[in-house]
Amino acid sequence: MEALDNQGALRIVTLFSGAVKGMAFYPASHPSIRQPLLELDKILAQALGRVPEVSWGILDGAMFFEEHLFVNPSTAIADLTNRMLEKYIGRVVVTAGLTFEELQAFIRLFSVKGAEIETLVDRMKQEGIVHIRLVRLGEETFETPDKESDEQEDENDHQATYGNALNAIRGICRDIERGRIPSSAPVIKVVDRMVGITMQEPSILVGLTMIKDYDNYTFNHCVNVGILAMALGASLGMDVMAVKSLGIAGELHDIGKTMIPKKILNKPGKLSRDEYDEMKRHSELGSKIIREMEGLDPHIAQIVLGHHLHFNRNGYPEWAQKLPFNQMIDIVAIADTYDAITTLRVYQHPINPRAALNEMQKLSGTFLDGSLVARFIEMMGKFPVGTLVRLDTNEVAVVYRPNPLDEEAPIVRILIERDGTRLSVPREQSLIEPDGSHYSQIVAVVDPLLKNIDVAKFVVSGHY
Ligand SMILES: [Fe+2]
Ligand SMILES: [Fe+2]
Repeated sequence: MEALDNQGALRIVTLFSGAVKGMAFYPASHPSIRQPLLELDKILAQALGRVPEVSWGILDGAMFFEEHLFVNPSTAIADLTNRMLEKYIGRVVVTAGLTFEELQAFIRLFSVKGAEIETLVDRMKQEGIVHIRLVRLGEETFETPDKESDEQEDENDHQATYGNALNAIRGICRDIERGRIPSSAPVIKVVDRMVGITMQEPSILVGLTMIKDYDNYTFNHCVNVGILAMALGASLGMDVMAVKSLGIAGELHDIGKTMIPKKILNKPGKLSRDEYDEMKRHSELGSKIIREMEGLDPHIAQIVLGHHLHFNRNGYPEWAQKLPFNQMIDIVAIADTYDAITTLRVYQHPINPRAALNEMQKLSGTFLDGSLVARFIEMMGKFPVGTLVRLDTNEVAVVYRPNPLDEEAPIVRILIERDGTRLSVPREQSLIEPDGSHYSQIVAVVDPLLKNIDVAKFVVSGHY
């Protein structure tokens, strides 16, 4: 049974937004607050008479109430969306039995600027609010009633998983900045999911590592390193537990940077000796935090400690050079190097995946383990997902999926037609047809900056 029609749903969200806004200016007893509160209470009671719980929140950036999605938001809804995002709240769930006092107390707590979800949940407990529950942004996937497992849906699912990983890292870094010991639960949960996908097909999530956010470099970098380390571990035939450790260690490898001054992290150009010494502390600081986090195996802290020791163990921290480390640190180092050199930074022009692999080969035997580099190159294929290429038809395309049977002939997405026309919706094309005939061949790798193309957009589906 539908809890409310579209109008009722819209009314609830609008009233809620208005009451929250008003509560910042007036006492709860003021008529301009009391009126919307009473109406909100009444409509919620009606809805909760039909279904045991109702919820509203944010889905792909838009506000929803139950099955109603408000894609063209009014000011009130946009305002509420922003507040929820600020507080990292993905969903507010209200269950039958809600009292007027609970609703009023909740809105008062919700209206406090700067109070984030953890604080709110604590305060709600203290105030005995039991019929309202908050769900952290990105911490759940929404079940659609009859989920079909077609490709598009799987891809959205993978993107949601990537988003969850990003949120987990973001939460951890925020806790560190505030001097708290972060919870390990969100990262463990999302890595579990990623391990499942990776063990089935290591290359699936690798395409998502083309997502590079230049403003939040560290978060994306951490998630990408986790994905690449897991993929390499899985392709080496490691077991689930080992792949999981690689994922967690990869995702957490640079969290120690949260404690390094931003002016050092973002400095363009060369760091001074003192600045570099400060920067080098991040692996040690990160591993210390991980040791304090509950539920994480000590060897994860060990991998993070050693991720800059290099294959020859001449890296940093210097005091750890003689400690016994296993190959896990070399796997994370490969993932780290690859993601770092394929990313545009303030001080660095990004290089395409193919050239990155060549660069890595030069580091074999010193910084990187040569046998792992070889395996990594094999795993990524001759034209890794995300490489921009020119075809012999003169079309420009981005490599979208590898072809395990013929690495010269991956599945691509054509972005620029032979006459130079840019396609608004890229055309998917396998370079080798099912009957064995060739559509065309790759003749060169193209620099995405020259063509002004954000490759990630086209590797991740649905975001043209
Ligand atoms: Fe690092
Ligand atoms: Fe790193």
